[in-house]
Amino acid sequence: MKKTIALLPGDGVGQEVMRGAVHVLRSIEKRFGHDFDLKEFPIGGTAIDLTGSPLPNDTLRACQNSDAVLLGAVGGPRWDHSKMRPEDGLLQLRKELGVYVNLRPVQSMSALLERSPLKSEIVKDTDLLIVRELTGGIYFGEKKRDVDRAEDALVYHKFEIERTVRRAYEQARKRKGKLTSVDKANVLESSKLWRSTVSELATEYRDVVTEHLLVDHAAMKLILKPAHFDVIVTENMFGDILSDEASVLLGTIGVLPSASLRDDDFGLYEPVHGSAPDISGTDSANPIGMIMSAAMMLKLSFHMHEEYEAVERAVREVLNAGYRTADMRTSRFQSVSTSQLIDQVVYRIEEDAVSA
Ligand code: NAD
Ligand code: IPM
Ligand code: MN
Repeated sequence: MKKTIALLPGDGVGQEVMRGAVHVLRSIEKRFGHDFDLKEFPIGGTAIDLTGSPLPNDTLRACQNSDAVLLGAVGGPRWDHSKMRPEDGLLQLRKELGVYVNLRPVQSMSALLERSPLKSEIVKDTDLLIVRELTGGIYFGEKKRDVDRAEDALVYHKFEIERTVRRAYEQARKRKGKLTSVDKANVLESSKLWRSTVSELATEYRDVVTEHLLVDHAAMKLILKPAHFDVIVTENMFGDILSDEASVLLGTIGVLPSASLRDDDFGLYEPVHGSAPDISGTDSANPIGMIMSAAMMLKLSFHMHEEYEAVERAVREVLNAGYRTADMRTSRFQSVSTSQLIDQVVYRIEEDAVSA
């Protein structure tokens, strides 16, 4: 199958982990006889330096003309005080592409149990999906700034809530049949609308168990009893914060992938982590979040289920064989570099083909 994929490595470790996705896609292409047209475009700080804009027109146009987009990460201290922010490029990209719902699966892996700061018996049955509204809320409301006053408006329209919550219910139907909607309906008007919209939709999805949790309680429960959760659906900013919190269950944010979707097959796929300026340039970043984001693209945008399984299996085997980047290391294993871990995953995808 021929597919056009725009690659936006971005800044910091984004560049390093993107190499992993490219090598994995090349090995999948070879093994399954596909034709992936992969082209790189600048975004974020790198694009500001090159063109003066965090989302150059050529980059946006290339994404709009692709079947899917892979993104590494944007941002870094270099641009923290510049007039234009790299992060604005990513937010504008999500908005322009209309990818209103973001899926962030968090599943415990037996090979990583030791690495979690929480007890194994608490985290071992974690298998949850955060469904985050991605193109509305406080990120996109009106902003005002005076010397001594600043304002960010948090606005939600019912249709934005409804389309995200429907996607979450559909996921819950395919999973364990439970939906937890997270809001701050004891304080915020936007959350009251969120909650009443979820309650209305619940009558259409009676086969799914619906619960509402206030976000402060949800943050606590996520750490106390992660196995309680199946699908968590929430607004943009709460979803951002809860997903970094959920990464602690696994011991590192470096392994978490995500998919940002709309109503057709198109998707923007990116790891949950950022540009990790503290480790960038050291070939030590974990490429698994990026590699699994590419795998999600194969499954969700291209309906390549066998190909998805091949990547997932290769990653699992590499971890079971004891290969760890520094963020996954425990006293039992030495760490390997980003490049070495990528080579191991690619080797297993290819070896698997020979033994199949
Ligand atoms: P971060 O996610 O970049 O880093 C948080 C911590 O996690 C750091 O200690 C880092 O070393 C570690 N980490 C992150 N990714 C890792 C990986 N692949 N392997 C191993 N360890 C990893 O968050 P931050 O430091 O708050 O943000 C840095 C910059 O990244 C900021 O400019 C921020 O705006 C940006 N950011 C971008 C995205 C994105 O592009 N989607 C997401 C989050 C943050
Ligand atoms: C994420 C990031 C972004 C967000 C930033 C970089 C704008 O933290 O994708 O989780 O807040 O959505
Ligand atoms: Mn985030």
